[in-house]
Amino acid sequence: MTNALLHPFAPPNKPESDYLNIVRGEGSLVFDSSGKSYIDGIANLWLCQVGHGRTEIIDAVATQMRQIEAYHTFAPFSNGPAAQVAEMIVERSPLVDGRVFLGCSGSDAVDTALKIARLFQQRRGHDGRQIIVKRTNGYHGTNFGGTSAQGITLNREGWGDLIPHFIEVPHDDLEVAATIFAEHGERIAAVLTEPIQGGGGVHPPVDGYLEGLHRLCEDNGALLIFDEVICGFGRTGNWFGAQTFGVTPDLIIFAKGVTSGYQPLSGVIVSRDVCNELEEPDFLLRTGYTYSGHHASCAAGIANIELMETEGLVDRVDNIGSQLRSGLAALKGDGLIESWRGLGAIYAAELGNDAVSARDKMLSAGVILRPIGTCLAICPPLVITDDEISRLIDTMADALR
Ligand SMILES: Cc1ncc(COP(=O)(O)O)c(C=O)c1O
Repeated sequence: MTNALLHPFAPPNKPESDYLNIVRGEGSLVFDSSGKSYIDGIANLWLCQVGHGRTEIIDAVATQMRQIEAYHTFAPFSNGPAAQVAEMIVERSPLVDGRVFLGCSGSDAVDTALKIARLFQQRRGHDGRQIIVKRTNGYHGTNFGGTSAQGITLNREGWGDLIPHFIEVPHDDLEVAATIFAEHGERIAAVLTEPIQGGGGVHPPVDGYLEGLHRLCEDNGALLIFDEVICGFGRTGNWFGAQTFGVTPDLIIFAKGVTSGYQPLSGVIVSRDVCNELEEPDFLLRTGYTYSGHHASCAAGIANIELMETEGLVDRVDNIGSQLRSGLAALKGDGLIESWRGLGAIYAAELGNDAVSARDKMLSAGVILRPIGTCLAICPPLVITDDEISRLIDTMADALR
């Protein structure tokens, strides 16, 4: 094998031969090229809700592709799967009378949401509202919009000038956000936040934080954008984190879990108020992607949502969560981890020291978790069995011992 492949979030001098080659998946398990199996404790990369190898989705995509693989949805074209998946998504969201703009990746959906927020303000006559307030630890993908919105400093560095008018606030301090609004309220277009910060280390919001942001936005004419690329599609125990935390934003960014990764699909759910601004006669929305509304991706989304519903996977989160929490509490009780945080089916075990070697030991023992600084992130498929969760926790205990 040559080194032709340049990997994302990886040291480019690492040779291809050093990588683990994943060739197959089934349920919560994946298999490498030597046939060794792993419990996929991070659901691919925070996304494979229905587990691997689900023929229901594979068949739906193949059937769609035999009809037509893709055709764009720029005016005057549309297609059934795109319209249907949009309807299924809004119906399950807190923005039931909103509409869905489709894309392919979380990063492009973040850019779309940022553009729509500024567009909305301009169309309301607030040309000066350009500031986006974002939080430390926030991860919003790696396009220029999301890179500018990163609350993980290292991810922002080395790319030259980023997009202006982003202001970062500490992720857990509402007072600072209030001060920023007091200073710049007239110029703030939107606040961008994940309900639970995922890639930055699994940080649930402190009590009252999301409600507080919502209030600040409402009082100051700014939009609230939830980046639910990880939280969406069941991860927190409801279809969306917005429902778990009881806070309704103006825009919801989704990706990942919408198809469980069987095809790339993302999007932005746009509230009715924001839609009203865009639906004025003679206005043309000049943004979008060749693959916005891609037939096969949308077919995967429909089949995935149907499967999640049939198998009651959103409701399974309670059980997964309580088993993981008691496992993590036992590890803490035994002094093997410093602490844990998280809710629903997303957690971080805080080790107090670099987590890469613990990850590597667990990998050897057949469990995949994701190291983030000093913690190990856990975010399993929503089909994970009780036995697999026990094995995951036991393997963690062995690795940490
Ligand atoms: C909250 C959040 N937003 C955006 C993204 C970017 O998504 P993608 O990698 O599909 O571009 C991610 C990816 O992990 C994410 O966690």
